[in-house]
Amino acid sequence: MSNEINYSERIPNNVDLASDRRLQRALESWQPRFANWWAEMGPVGFQDKEIYLRTAVDVGQQGWAHFSHVKLPDYRWGIFLSQPQADRRITFGELKGQPAWQEVPGEFRTDLRRLIVVQGDTEPASVEQQRYLGHTAPSLYDLRNLFQINVEEGRHLWAMVYLLHAHFGRDGRDEADALLERHSGDPDHPRILGAFNEKTSDWLSFLFFTYFTDRDGKYQLGALKESAFDPLSRTCDFMLKEEAHHMFVGASGISRVIQRTCDVMNQYNTDDVRPYGVVDLPTLQKYINFHFSVSLDLFGSETSTNAANYYSAGLKGRFSEDSYDDDHVLAGHQETISEIIDGVWELKERPAITVVNQQLRRSYIDDCAKGLRRWNRVLDNNGIGTQLTLPHEGFHRQVGLHKEHYVTPNGEIISDVMWNELVPDFLPTEADREFVVSLMQPVYEPGLMASWIAPPTSGINTQPVEYEYVRL
Ligand SMILES: [Fe+2]
Ligand SMILES: [Fe+2]
Repeated sequence: MSNEINYSERIPNNVDLASDRRLQRALESWQPRFANWWAEMGPVGFQDKEIYLRTAVDVGQQGWAHFSHVKLPDYRWGIFLSQPQADRRITFGELKGQPAWQEVPGEFRTDLRRLIVVQGDTEPASVEQQRYLGHTAPSLYDLRNLFQINVEEGRHLWAMVYLLHAHFGRDGRDEADALLERHSGDPDHPRILGAFNEKTSDWLSFLFFTYFTDRDGKYQLGALKESAFDPLSRTCDFMLKEEAHHMFVGASGISRVIQRTCDVMNQYNTDDVRPYGVVDLPTLQKYINFHFSVSLDLFGSETSTNAANYYSAGLKGRFSEDSYDDDHVLAGHQETISEIIDGVWELKERPAITVVNQQLRRSYIDDCAKGLRRWNRVLDNNGIGTQLTLPHEGFHRQVGLHKEHYVTPNGEIISDVMWNELVPDFLPTEADREFVVSLMQPVYEPGLMASWIAPPTSGINTQPVEYEYVRL
């Protein structure tokens, strides 16, 4: 079977859209609404410039992407699902072993729609959050990466809207419209999840967002990829391929920021690097603390009956379900989690099925720690004695068991009075943010970089770093 995507239709797709005229017409009437949303809420400026973008041309393992200069509004957003697996079975929950579903069972309709809407809502939200960043890009290379991420988040919205239109009838179409009506930070119609209503007002925040918050996306998509609802599983599988680049932008971007900071620290033999136009290490640590903690909230409460129901029903699993050495049903199993009880940390036994959110969060934390090790190697290699760390998972939480408590980045439980005194050491202050914003001067000469970031080690798709990634 061919993996190829049909680009001759108005909506590029590999789901044989032409064979379902009603669905095709419904999506073709949503398409101009998406275009309006992109024009009004997407990147500000640069819409008439040619950007060196990759487009999916095939969903197979090899060579799925094609690179060329295109204008943003001409990007071919479409519907691409990974190829079906013959005789796919449900791998977890009460229905484990039964055939995966090609249609939504009536009893799970509401829950599945909710899961798809929550995922779908994050995709356009991040585009809205990042819409002004083009004006302060540290290089053309970075500017191109921003737009690549933006168009792909737009495509992820398409991926979820397709499922809503194809499988949820009238309600699905209404939800698809609502995805364009909520906006990040809108006081009346905000996006569903907190982190997606925060401002991404500078490039340092953007790089941390792509490292920490796009990585939440990786884990959510990974858990939905396990779903018994096969079209959702296949959609998420392909989205994960695009997501990898987003996290690369964050991981490599922060490495470059740290490299530049080290260069200046060594050149002037000082920790006080702000006067030289680079970000000091304590500020980087505070940004890590902020972005990590708001991203942890996205996994939901540590104990959750909703998550338990989704798991038993086979709607949403854990990340790479087959790597868990248990029965994948979890009925009657216990799992230990840490909780604050009477002011001290205690390990508490909970029914395993109620803590699947926490298991997903743990996989995420382990993955985040890998990037920290890589960033610390940059510090080591430059002879800098300081190390960056992930804060404790109870730190600065607005969701879940720890939200009523004040926990330091080291995991110490403190009073609200202490917290208020210490918080300027833990999280970026207004002054820190103003300093970071003051560094954000655009650099649009091919190959040149802003003062606060080192060049990347290589370009995109074997092009040199000084390539004209955006034709201004
Ligand atoms: Fe996405
Ligand atoms: Fe992403």
